[in-house]
Amino acid sequence: MPTINDVAKHAQTSISSVSRVLNNSGYVREEVRRRVLKAVEELQYNPNALARGLIKNKSNTIGLILPDILNPFFAHVARGVEDTARSYGYNVFLCNTDGSIEIENQYLKVLEQKRVDGIIYAASQRGSQLIAKLKDKGTPLVVLDRQIECVDIDTVHINNYQGAYMAVNYLVSLGHRKIAFIGGPKDIQSAVNRENGYREALQAHGLVIDEDLIKYGDFRYEGGYEGAGMLLAGKKAFSALFSANDMMAIGAINRFVEAGIKVPDDISIVGFDDIPFAKLIVPQLTTIAQPIQDMSRIAAELLLEQIEGEKKSSREVILLPKLVKRKTCKEV
Ligand code: RIB
Repeated sequence: MPTINDVAKHAQTSISSVSRVLNNSGYVREEVRRRVLKAVEELQYNPNALARGLIKNKSNTIGLILPDILNPFFAHVARGVEDTARSYGYNVFLCNTDGSIEIENQYLKVLEQKRVDGIIYAASQRGSQLIAKLKDKGTPLVVLDRQIECVDIDTVHINNYQGAYMAVNYLVSLGHRKIAFIGGPKDIQSAVNRENGYREALQAHGLVIDEDLIKYGDFRYEGGYEGAGMLLAGKKAFSALFSANDMMAIGAINRFVEAGIKVPDDISIVGFDDIPFAKLIVPQLTTIAQPIQDMSRIAAELLLEQIEGEKKSSREVILLPKLVKRKTCKEV
């Protein structure tokens, strides 16, 4: 039975474009839409076949393991996964691990006992022996958002390096030369890739990397608030800040405002994620958007293909970041 991957190859486009055409959501060039619909017809692809339940003793449930459901990014991911899974007749067990590898391992065992048909996993750390074991057992698995050091596993994430590079390029285009950075946890691949993008973009522009202008947080509001406090205490001048996610950017803005610093008049700020709050805060946050809805839908569809025995070889779907200019940046 043809899979969404086969349709993408046949139509010479991406899985995310096929998914958008089939769900009639998001922008797709007319030429691509035509190729996708032609491929669907020629291959006789039927996305609803997944719901027919071609394999016996299915529970029609999947597990979704997330590190921090209080972070709107993951709440949005959970919604996207659930919407897609339900449209194929599957229910979702949501597991929040608080970024703890111990809690993660407990949940993985519970999900196995509950006999879920498959697991979508946003890792709390880069490596997970248990995930490798589940994979060896043949449990359908998709890693979402944060890559783990485990080869040959379906993965869906954004090009984090490119997103960070875009943020620095934008700030430099506004004339900023002293750009501070608040990074995420160093044991998370998405955070590491963003830091690399920040560092290499500065180098490409011939700018000095000042380690005193680089702090690290926990991807939470408090981490951004404290990181901004450390930058201010460091007495090193800077006119812009790139934060490795929106929640920390919001924490940093509040810390700057408490210190009487105006955003963007005194300091320009770029975040990462484009969570719903980004456009609700004042000033509205300029950020690097992740296609969260697409990412979640594709992860769910790749997992369902595995569950239905359709998967051929592992796939890495890398989606593109997008700069969303709002009100927290200003020319020097
Ligand atoms: O905001 C949480 C962060 O962790 C997001 O940037 C997401 O990419 C995840 O890695």
